[in-house]
Amino acid sequence: MKYNFPVTKTTHPKEKPDQTKLGFGKYFTDHMFIIEYDEGQGWHDGRIVPHEPIAIEPASCVLHYAQMMFEGMKAYKTPSGEIQLFRPDQNFERMNRTNDRMCIPHMDKDVFFDAIKQLIDVDMDWVPSEPGTALYIRPFIFGDEVSFSVLPAKHYNFIIILCPVGSYYAANDGGLATTRIYVEDEYIRAAVGGTGFAKCGGNYAGGMAASAKAMEHKCKDVLWLDAAEHKYVEEIGTSNAFFMIGDEVITAPLMGTILPGITRNSVIQLLKKWGVKVTERRLSIDEVVAASENGTLKEVFASGTAAVISPIGCLYYMGEDHKVADGNVGPVAQKLYDTLYGIQTGKVEDDMGWTVKL
Ligand SMILES: Cc1ncc(COP(=O)(O)O)c(C=O)c1O
Repeated sequence: MKYNFPVTKTTHPKEKPDQTKLGFGKYFTDHMFIIEYDEGQGWHDGRIVPHEPIAIEPASCVLHYAQMMFEGMKAYKTPSGEIQLFRPDQNFERMNRTNDRMCIPHMDKDVFFDAIKQLIDVDMDWVPSEPGTALYIRPFIFGDEVSFSVLPAKHYNFIIILCPVGSYYAANDGGLATTRIYVEDEYIRAAVGGTGFAKCGGNYAGGMAASAKAMEHKCKDVLWLDAAEHKYVEEIGTSNAFFMIGDEVITAPLMGTILPGITRNSVIQLLKKWGVKVTERRLSIDEVVAASENGTLKEVFASGTAAVISPIGCLYYMGEDHKVADGNVGPVAQKLYDTLYGIQTGKVEDDMGWTVKL
């Protein structure tokens, strides 16, 4: 079904920010999309309205029991001025996998895609074009039934907001640079059978205490270890993690504890295409430390929609720094960044069929 959502335009358009100082999630466009769900009625009354605060009843279940989910994707401006998305079908599918885990009703595919297209069309002037920038798309759903029963809500809102963004790690503004990462040995993010594979707010709230420790130790983010043994590397903050030891690139397997990143999957596909050995397997932090010491740890990098490819130069674990090679950006991370961001922005030919023009 094709949707044509009604649009209420803002009467107070905002001034556009300086594209070289966007940060991440600081500025929001003029409009947002909203649609509601009621049990028995399904998704209804979709509309594009000015981006402004929403009223929420203080007893809404999301504010107490966190029944919510979100997605994160980006739109890019190509050199010819067209706007394109990167593998949006994958975000849609992951959204419904998260919804299943969080007992949230499935999103409708046509609502999702027509809403994104029409909203970006209304806020077209906000898509930035400076190197390293994109328009971040944040779709999210929350239950706002007024109830203190720990049960799935009967009423939901699905909202899409947009923000022009630069690099997630400021270190990567104006070119790639390495960051220092804190290996968390006390707190855990997700256990098998939990919600690690789902994109729900609680996963991130539960990680903030570790992020605070990371910041105290002058690290940019947290590398999580597995919940059962605190031994195997899992993922980094809002990205997946890759380790190049010798000629093998290793990333954690999908066992339900990490988010199945769309960038992660794209990295694996590109490395395989280039003939680089890439393995999804459990990798212990001890093996990483040993590789750092014996000089075989060639590269470590994070992958994600926000982080794109963010190289890591040093891992801080149990009170000690463990250097990754010479601490500089490695050639594999650089080539992946150039290729991925090149495909995303239409500067490199998309022979993988990953981009979708709006
Ligand atoms: C916890 C976590 N891991 C990994 C990722 C990377 O996923 P993607 O490449 O789909 O953005 C994200 C970001 O969405 C994330 O929040």
